[in-house]
Amino acid sequence: MALQVEGLAVRYGLAEAFRDVSLRVDDAQIVALLGNNGAGKTTLVRALSGTLARHGGRVVAGSARGAGLDLTRARADAIVRAGVVQVPEGRRIFGQLSVDENLAAGALALRSRAEARRIKAWVLDLFPVLAAKAGHPAALLSGGEQQMLAIGRALMSGPRTLLLDEPSLGIAPLATRTIMDTVREVNRAGASVLLVEQNTRLALSVAHHACLLHGGTIRAEGPAADLAASDVILELTLGRGVAHTATAAAVARGGGDG
Ligand SMILES: Nc1ncnc2c1ncn2[C@@H]1O[C@H](COP(=O)(O)OP(=O)(O)OP(=O)(O)O)[C@@H](O)[C@H]1O
Ligand SMILES: [Mg+2]
Repeated sequence: MALQVEGLAVRYGLAEAFRDVSLRVDDAQIVALLGNNGAGKTTLVRALSGTLARHGGRVVAGSARGAGLDLTRARADAIVRAGVVQVPEGRRIFGQLSVDENLAAGALALRSRAEARRIKAWVLDLFPVLAAKAGHPAALLSGGEQQMLAIGRALMSGPRTLLLDEPSLGIAPLATRTIMDTVREVNRAGASVLLVEQNTRLALSVAHHACLLHGGTIRAEGPAADLAASDVILELTLGRGVAHTATAAAVARGGGDG
């Protein structure tokens, strides 16, 4: 199994981010993690990538395992070397470095140069624009291209499990499609993916399985096709009977019915 989270609870100071979160990602499975703003999606990714403490958060209950590690205790670099790699929210690339240098930075966990060359050829095949702009400063790329670079950089370490935090956020539809096609391709190549998204329909169209974080815990889960066919996610995230989007967003921020 790629990831196994059991009864996990995280706090920032005294404030609870979420409690009793359990989910699993099987080998070669894509699992969508859905939820409104502030539901705790990024916090869960932090807890799985060894980066929670640097944001002032801590695990207060439960467990998270992946790649043979206790992810709640392992260091971030050890987690990457074990094959669990995150693409953080807001795609933190190195703006002053070139596209090529950003990719090279991602290859640090690899054992051999030959392996790095092979994976780089694959990454450039997935995102040809990164080859075309190899020498450009990363800061000059478009938002979509920067997201591709962030994913490409993560792939350079040869992950077996990829944690993607809102890859479609603020990106044009065409680039979003390229990125979702890549998620499928990476999965076909054998990797597991935890795909964090607010874009529910998009995520359910790519994922095998999905979980909804709402009101501080997992409120719905199941095969992606089943959740796409039911109204449960819409009802929970928008609030029952609320049709108007602006009102729905306000209700959701206030916690909806959760
Ligand atoms: N570094 C932090 N310190 C204190 N509280 C935080 C911190 N980061 C997040 N939180 C709080 O934890 C809760 C969960 O936030 P988180 O960023 O995980 O949500 P999210 O689901 O990723 O939201 P979004 O869709 O907006 O990215 C929120 O109440 C948020 O205000
Ligand atoms: Mg987030």
